[in-house]
Amino acid sequence: MALTHLIAGNWKMNGVGASLDEARAIAEGAAALTRIDMLICPPATLIARMAALCAGTRLAIGGQDCHAAQSGAFTGDISAAMLVDAGASHVIVGHSERRTLHAETSAQVRAKAEAALGQGLVAIICIGETLAEREAGETLAVVTGQLRASLPAGAGGSTVVIAYEPVWAIGTGKTPTSADVAEVHAALRAELVSLLGAGNAGLIRLLYGGSVKPSNAAEMMALPNVNGALVGGASLKAADFLAIAAAV
Ligand code: PGA
Repeated sequence: MALTHLIAGNWKMNGVGASLDEARAIAEGAAALTRIDMLICPPATLIARMAALCAGTRLAIGGQDCHAAQSGAFTGDISAAMLVDAGASHVIVGHSERRTLHAETSAQVRAKAEAALGQGLVAIICIGETLAEREAGETLAVVTGQLRASLPAGAGGSTVVIAYEPVWAIGTGKTPTSADVAEVHAALRAELVSLLGAGNAGLIRLLYGGSVKPSNAAEMMALPNVNGALVGGASLKAADFLAIAAAV
């Protein structure tokens, strides 16, 4: 069954109030792109304003991380309930920048995803190998292991999205070959089938992320088992993000 592609933007720690103009332009452009779903995950400080701006449009708004707990003494953290309260419908968990810079483990990522599902958010679970792991021939073992260990109870097509993001491709301009992406996505689909059964596994969208740009989006998005993109740098400019979305 053909899944609707999701084109998701991760603004990371970029964007202030002036950036709402880009969000408005993306939301306006999304109106014509009815074949796909679109999402922007701005910094937490912009979620409520962007959600208000995009209410009633085809552009959904998400968080970039959430805590596993519902509330408590966790200075600087944000809960899934807070994201919902601000107007988010999705949240990214386990981005490689969180796994690397904040030492998050797959067990923590799973707990965060379960907290997200508990609040009705769609969890976008990121996995991906480092360059050393790819060069050692460990890519498939690494990503399927991360998938198994990060997948929350209750995972299904309406609750989770998986984003395969090779760490060495993020923000570098380098991308794997189409054959490499197709190989990883086939392995991820097979792993989901063994974990969840074919019916459920077939409904979960598998995104590719890492240096997606207008010039490579069409090729990547046409690959089997690639059901969308998680876009960093190129999601900051409405024209680039819309060009990626239009390439699906
Ligand atoms: P990039 O980032 O598109 O800038 O490579 C992707 C990501 O980190 O999600």
